[in-house]
Amino acid sequence: MSEVTAEQERIKNWFENTYQKRGNLYLRPKAAYEIFLHLLKPQKGQNLLDVACGLGRLLEVGKQYDLNLHGVDISENAIKAVGEILPEAVAKVGNAEALPFDDNSMDMITCLGSLERIINLENALKEQLRVGKSTAKYCYMVRNSNRATWKLVKNGMGLKNEAGHQGAKTLEEWSDIFRKVGFEIEQVVSDQWGRMRIWRYLGLGIFHPDYKTPKKGFVPLENAYEFIFVLRKK
Ligand SMILES: C[S@@+](CC[C@H](N)C(=O)[O-])C[C@H]1O[C@@H](n2cnc3c(N)ncnc32)[C@H](O)[C@@H]1O
Repeated sequence: MSEVTAEQERIKNWFENTYQKRGNLYLRPKAAYEIFLHLLKPQKGQNLLDVACGLGRLLEVGKQYDLNLHGVDISENAIKAVGEILPEAVAKVGNAEALPFDDNSMDMITCLGSLERIINLENALKEQLRVGKSTAKYCYMVRNSNRATWKLVKNGMGLKNEAGHQGAKTLEEWSDIFRKVGFEIEQVVSDQWGRMRIWRYLGLGIFHPDYKTPKKGFVPLENAYEFIFVLRKK
């Protein structure tokens, strides 16, 4: 077994165990996913692909828009769960580096909290360009390495989850990679989950009433916890 194959196997096993032990608790609640499709402005009947779809949270939101749902994840446990909640979705076990979907077939592609988990990021991005139509829109949520929590705690104190291939990059690094492989960046906003959580803890309702619309907040974009990128093909 090559080193890459062994590493991929370790990552996959980490997610299989995590979904088995923690299930739904591992991921954000469904309402936290609405912002991603809101930013992409979907139209009824379009083809949506969520790469590394986990338990299908984003696809559940896609159902509200009457989209044709497609998902892929390396975890069998995750794809089994998607099949149970969304039997109409085309959900496949597969690697983001070799997507089991046709060229030019998708109108919208999302990949949330997962690009940093993939061994060869460029391969994965090129695959997403391949399966996207010329007019396709993309939404990615990726982790920022320019945060104290990442620099001092996760990376600095060695608390990074190596088994789950946790990673992070700066705003500039993510932007450079996306442009280099062939994307144009339309918009970048801060992840809104922190704001939503504060509302929840303050007892002001589960979510802020306007949780779909990105707000600037006090933290400058470069220091956001995670970035949400909206992209299209160059
Ligand atoms: C942090 S979870 C995010 C799941 C989902 N995108 C969400 O936001 O609810 C990361 C996901 O990436 C998947 N994953 C990791 N490496 C992958 C790969 N190479 N190909 C496909 N999926 C992968 C994991 O199985 C896991 O479901």
